[in-house]
Amino acid sequence: MNVVPHDDDHWTKYNGTQTGRPVRPLLRDAMSMAGPGGGRTAIDLGCGAGIESKALLDAGWTVHAIDGVPLMDSHERLTVDVRHFAELDSLPAADLIYAGYSLPYQPPDSFRRVWTLMLESLRPGGVLAVNLFGENDSWAGDESETFFSADAARALFDGFDVRYWAEEDEDGPAFGGSKHWHVFDVIAVAPFSP
Ligand SMILES: C[S@@+](CC[C@H](N)C(=O)[O-])C[C@H]1O[C@@H](n2cnc3c(N)ncnc32)[C@H](O)[C@@H]1O
Repeated sequence: MNVVPHDDDHWTKYNGTQTGRPVRPLLRDAMSMAGPGGGRTAIDLGCGAGIESKALLDAGWTVHAIDGVPLMDSHERLTVDVRHFAELDSLPAADLIYAGYSLPYQPPDSFRRVWTLMLESLRPGGVLAVNLFGENDSWAGDESETFFSADAARALFDGFDVRYWAEEDEDGPAFGGSKHWHVFDVIAVAPFSP
């Protein structure tokens, strides 16, 4: 099993291997639901090598990208916020938030705080696309990361229109080894009235 620490050094190496991979389908599907960018704002939380941020920029979005160690080219509609999630105290208003394989890499108290910021920043009808880790994951039990039961993951989206829900619960490759992945892939639309 892969037991390397998920620190900035790890992510710098990981992000350096991502060049040329396809845009993640979760973001593609979220963009289809959200409609044209047209200068609207999207947030990419844990943007890494910026592949999904670039797809958003190419579709006309203004992008606010956040990561502890981003690896991205500049663009006139891109703001790169070099920051760890625990340091976030606000997010811009947004019509799409994508957090691909990033939010679980923080302790539960930080996750809850950042989740609240995300929900506050998402405009009515905005699209939220995230990967969350489940309790059967190989890494579950690591107190520096956040894992959910299916029910607890569902509860995060109370009041939202959950348009896509997939659960992966199987062994598979990881950066530097293999592991058991337990992941919830979710796309949900924010309510128009609370
Ligand atoms: C597995 S990569 C995912 C990259 C990309 N979002 C994707 O969908 O492939 C995780 C990214 O999240 C960032 N990250 C992990 N934990 C973080 C934290 N606590 N604060 C800020 N960024 C973090 C890492 O630096 C890395 O770039």
